[in-house]
Amino acid sequence: MRKQLIVGNWKMYGSHSANAELLSGIAAARPFMADVAVCVPFPYLSETAVALAAHGIHWGAQDCSAHEQGAYTGEVSAAMLAEFGCRYAIVGHSERRTYHAENDPLVADKAKAALARGVTPIVCVGETLAQREAGETEAVVKRQLSAAIHALAHCVGEMVVAYEPVWAIGTGRTATPEQAQAMHALLRAQLRAATPRADDMKILYGGSVKPDNAATLFAQPDIDGGLIGGASLKVADFVAICRAAD
Ligand code: 13P
Repeated sequence: MRKQLIVGNWKMYGSHSANAELLSGIAAARPFMADVAVCVPFPYLSETAVALAAHGIHWGAQDCSAHEQGAYTGEVSAAMLAEFGCRYAIVGHSERRTYHAENDPLVADKAKAALARGVTPIVCVGETLAQREAGETEAVVKRQLSAAIHALAHCVGEMVVAYEPVWAIGTGRTATPEQAQAMHALLRAQLRAATPRADDMKILYGGSVKPDNAATLFAQPDIDGGLIGGASLKVADFVAICRAAD
């Protein structure tokens, strides 16, 4: 039985005071049956580590460089994230694919760089509305996952996959549990062809997960938790979503 994982993706939100309230609220609501983590903006990693270190809640970043080190202004390496105690790095989020022109090979290299430093990559895949309407959903998502599978080779089993249909992100429009399960089953089948560890791997769902739809989504056999955007910024909502997972 896979343990569920709930990850908050704060995106570019936060401030010292808001973070302190959010992190202490999450810590105070423990214990959770699921594993819980928050992926915060880079400047807040240090205070997040201090706030969560003693509480069994993990933290991570929302991106990481594909490079080891060097003249890459503005980039943050996986080695640096590891120094901050990061357990996870989200890579290939659709917002980075869209606004920063990240493509499949780059996302795969980022996942590889993270793993090389012991940081678990949460590799995001998902189709746009136009791709869904054109009947391309399966092909797009398979292609995105395939790039990571090839780059990670014998370490495929170490990554976390997140299925986030782009049309469901921040829109209040969630994939139905059936739609999400169908995609997760497809992804699981693709992982099974690549690694004997596929049945132990976590595939998270992301896109307008809220307290009122979380339990039904997480009850699907191939949905192993969630990647939570907007609702991860409100203590009560995030805690309710963490409690909806078992
Ligand atoms: P929302 O939960 O705000 O739709 O965002 C989902 C997401 O992008 C998580 O990475």
